[in-house]
Amino acid sequence: KKPAGAPSPELARPVQKVGVVGAGLMAGQLALVFAQRLNVPVVLTDVDQARVDRGVGHVHGQVETLVAKGKLSAEQGGQLKALVTGSVSKDVYADADLVIEAVFEEMGVKKAVLAEVEAVVRPGCILATNTSSLSVTEMASGLEHPERLVGFHFFNPVAVMPLVEIVRGPATTDAVLATAFATARGLGKTAVLVQDAAAFVVNRILLRMLGEVQHSFDQGTDATVADHALDPMALPMTPFTLLSMVGIPVAQHVTESLNTAFGDERFPVSKNLQSLIDAGITSLWAKGEDGQEAI
Ligand code: CAA
Repeated sequence: KKPAGAPSPELARPVQKVGVVGAGLMAGQLALVFAQRLNVPVVLTDVDQARVDRGVGHVHGQVETLVAKGKLSAEQGGQLKALVTGSVSKDVYADADLVIEAVFEEMGVKKAVLAEVEAVVRPGCILATNTSSLSVTEMASGLEHPERLVGFHFFNPVAVMPLVEIVRGPATTDAVLATAFATARGLGKTAVLVQDAAAFVVNRILLRMLGEVQHSFDQGTDATVADHALDPMALPMTPFTLLSMVGIPVAQHVTESLNTAFGDERFPVSKNLQSLIDAGITSLWAKGEDGQEAI
């Protein structure tokens, strides 16, 4: 069944080479999923060689884990690794069909990166943003060809989470949107079209729930009690474990965007989390899940 709001699938363009901008946590996961599921070359770029090497190394490490678990043969693992390469130059996107950015969640950074990519890609290339909270309309406003930008939002861990939120910008063409839906289908994901509103749909709901847990903690509830209050609802992981996986600074950043859009009542920004971020602490658990020792 055609997803609601999706254009005719016949309009979709082939995607035979993918670019990923950024070599961080989400970018590496995206590179792996695109290479593995679409079986196409994927090239990662970042601002310096050390980051590129770390990003590609991370992807190759994930492939080795899949081989060690017996999910891929050694030969398949070798082929998959060969599909994922890296560069510091965005010129490698010259023959890409789709370039997705997964750089720092800051409008200025995203706009600058998209402009750089736009300068090297060919006319039919689609630009996608994995933003989890920022306006695709605003991002498109900085482009010479806003019609080729689409929001393409994945969830962490990318290999496992089944949903992708697709966002139509003010000028996105039907062909670009159809390609986004077809690509999501090729990746084995369920794609839904969502409005270009702060944090779209999933994160707006998820962050409200996580925010209430943090707020209760800020007000003095014991951290373990607050974190386990929803256990009877059988969430796949506790809120603080999820926050640690997403990354506390990332989650805080998304909450700030939501706070700007919807106010303190609905999205209070946790002072406790901010002090952890300021102290460089990245996990809410001192010992991991087994130890259950909240900091
Ligand atoms: N990368 C790749 N695969 C992973 C993975 C990862 N990081 N973590 C788990 N998996 C795989 C495992 O290999 C396993 O696969 P197999 O069954 O084929 O072996 C499968 O997922 C299940 O893993 P586990 O048995 O280890 O653990 P689990 O059953 O507890 O599931 C989980 C782990 C899928 C992460 C689950 O806990 C979960 O769904 N958690 C919630 C995640 C979530 O809500 N994500 C959204 C985050 S919000 C976001 O992304 C926000 C944003 O935009 C900023």
